[in-house]
Amino acid sequence: MENKFLGLTPPMGWNSWNTFTWEINDKLIREAADAMASELKDAGYEYIVIDDCWSEKQRDKNGRLVPDHWKFPDGIKPVADYVHSKGLKFGMYSCAGTHTCGGHPGSFEHEFDDAETFAEWGVDYLKYDYCYKPDHIPGEILYKRMSTALRNCGRDIMFSACNWGNDDVYKWIRESGAHLFRSTGDIQDNWESIKRLALSQIGNECYGGNFCHNDIDMLVVGMHGGSNNEWINSTEAGVNVIADSGETAPKLGGCTDEEYRTHFSLWAIMNSPLMIGCDIRHMTPATKEILTNKDVIAINQDIECRGPYCIKQWNNPDNVFSLVKPLSNGDYAIGMFNFGDRAGEMSLQFWDIGLTTASGRGLSVYDCWKHEELGTFTERFCTTVEPHGCMVLRAKVVKV
Ligand code: GLA
Repeated sequence: MENKFLGLTPPMGWNSWNTFTWEINDKLIREAADAMASELKDAGYEYIVIDDCWSEKQRDKNGRLVPDHWKFPDGIKPVADYVHSKGLKFGMYSCAGTHTCGGHPGSFEHEFDDAETFAEWGVDYLKYDYCYKPDHIPGEILYKRMSTALRNCGRDIMFSACNWGNDDVYKWIRESGAHLFRSTGDIQDNWESIKRLALSQIGNECYGGNFCHNDIDMLVVGMHGGSNNEWINSTEAGVNVIADSGETAPKLGGCTDEEYRTHFSLWAIMNSPLMIGCDIRHMTPATKEILTNKDVIAINQDIECRGPYCIKQWNNPDNVFSLVKPLSNGDYAIGMFNFGDRAGEMSLQFWDIGLTTASGRGLSVYDCWKHEELGTFTERFCTTVEPHGCMVLRAKVVKV
């Protein structure tokens, strides 16, 4: 029976791209499923998604996609069965254009056949990219086409559109039937990239919601410069001049755990899908603690998916701001973020979230990273946030 709740809240899972790019295979995907089942499933993660470069470069004589015979010698179905045997769901990748971004066959003009193939293999999630899209046909039509194919393939398949925010995607994607849509270019494992992607979506909160979530891209939490792809590892500048030699070389990126914590908090409160991109077989304790913080995940998975609104710190508006998200039980989630390079004084005026002094109400505040009650506050909450850091609060309205 059709699952009417598919896509109600943002999906949570793991995707192979950020760390492994084209170096994927049967063994890796099974190991990722093992790691998710033992380390992450309890926190709510469920999808194991194979990204680009899983197929041969040619379709077979019937026009069907063929799994790469070195990477997946037994095909895809046994891998999907294995993932399902762990109580998890299985995802794959294709593209609205003639080729995927990695140069493999795309689903353009093969949408219905490919949806059938994915259904036969036991796929539960399809990421659908935008490379090599023919100019003469609007993306809106192509996403609708694949969405219609998926809805008629006999399986519940979550549809993850990935057109990087192009062509005013916000305005038409919900009607296409996609459950989530990438609104940004690709993330890199560095602080500048995290900052840029988050800031690019402030103001777009109204476009996301139940069944159609704004996807700011996969997480880089815990990667620490561990991608096999130099572009993903590199710093914002991309290349660095090596002193004296005059040669250039990629400068390895990676973030501090504090920055990864801020990244995770931003994605959570902005209602982005939480798709992990690090090597989950080898997580440090700090990485696991970040990715499995149930108080922060509860904010992301709140059933009403209300968008947060942004309140900038009056004396440092470029770097310091709060995101406030109303939760279904009447609480507020409050993320206080400092993008600057120096410690930031922050004060959230309750007036700004509708709690005037005259209302006789204040906030009882819980710290979602320290996991402790901070007490009841009236009129304002003041704190200092470390550079590149954040504070995430869950606040209950109380009479004072
Ligand atoms: C695009 C997408 C990425 C990834 C690659 C694969 O760049 O935005 O997330 O899927 O393609 O080639």
